[in-house]
Amino acid sequence: MTLQLSDIVLSYGGSPIISRLDLQARPGEILVLTGPSGCGKSTVLRALAGLLRPDSGEILADGQPVRTTSRDRALVFQDNALLPWRTVQSNVELALKLAGTPRSERAEEARRWIADVGLSGFEHYLPKSLSGGMRQRVQLARGLAGAPRAVMMDEPFGALDTQTRTSMQKLLIDTWRAHPTTVVFVTHDVDEALLIGDRIAVLGRAGQPLRALLDVPTPREALADRSALRSEVIAALDTPEFP
Ligand SMILES: Nc1ncnc2c1ncn2[C@@H]1O[C@H](COP(=O)(O)OP(=O)(O)OP(=O)(O)O)[C@@H](O)[C@H]1O
Ligand SMILES: [Mg+2]
Repeated sequence: MTLQLSDIVLSYGGSPIISRLDLQARPGEILVLTGPSGCGKSTVLRALAGLLRPDSGEILADGQPVRTTSRDRALVFQDNALLPWRTVQSNVELALKLAGTPRSERAEEARRWIADVGLSGFEHYLPKSLSGGMRQRVQLARGLAGAPRAVMMDEPFGALDTQTRTSMQKLLIDTWRAHPTTVVFVTHDVDEALLIGDRIAVLGRAGQPLRALLDVPTPREALADRSALRSEVIAALDTPEFP
């Protein structure tokens, strides 16, 4: 799915957070949004998901104006958004139900997704009995189950330790390759942006224009020397590398 932001203004209570942003997520790409804290990354994702209407400008999903949320456009958050009283299996089945998967196919399909994210055997666990990384795997399965045509991810790995985070990044890329969809991925982490993104958009501080829009050479694995690109992103971020 193509997601198009055309000259959009987003504000809360009259103060502009995003002014006149033009940005497109191309079909099947991973577009990373990064930028300083408070610059409006989550706000842009909420608008793309249809949770927030722009003051002006247009948001189009495959040419159609985005007015509400849709099962075509899923949202995955950083914090645990699983239903605590439902098991892993039942959380994933719910996503399939909302996506319109027939009842008779849900159990089997949910098991496949749970296996894809490496959680076979944990189907009957409640979220509270899982580690943070495991919960994030369930969220990934839930976000991608039902084959949404676009997925918005808001710092989904932000709360994980470095090792778990690295394995989740790999899992995301593998899962996305197996089930291609347009992804808009928000992160603070420059290395995560370089690893995951096909393109990286660096947003300016609230109300300022886009600072940079960079292509990441593919295939990702062949990107032996990221240092030049890394410097470009850091320069655009205009923040100390080790604050
Ligand atoms: N519901 C709201 N009502 C009023 N102001 C809000 C609301 N949500 C966000 N803001 C303001 O909008 C600005 C952008 O917030 P947003 O959450 O989009 O930033 P962000 O780039 O995602 O930041 P972070 O990197 O810290 O997650 C901030 O100044 C924030 O205070
Ligand atoms: Mg945010």
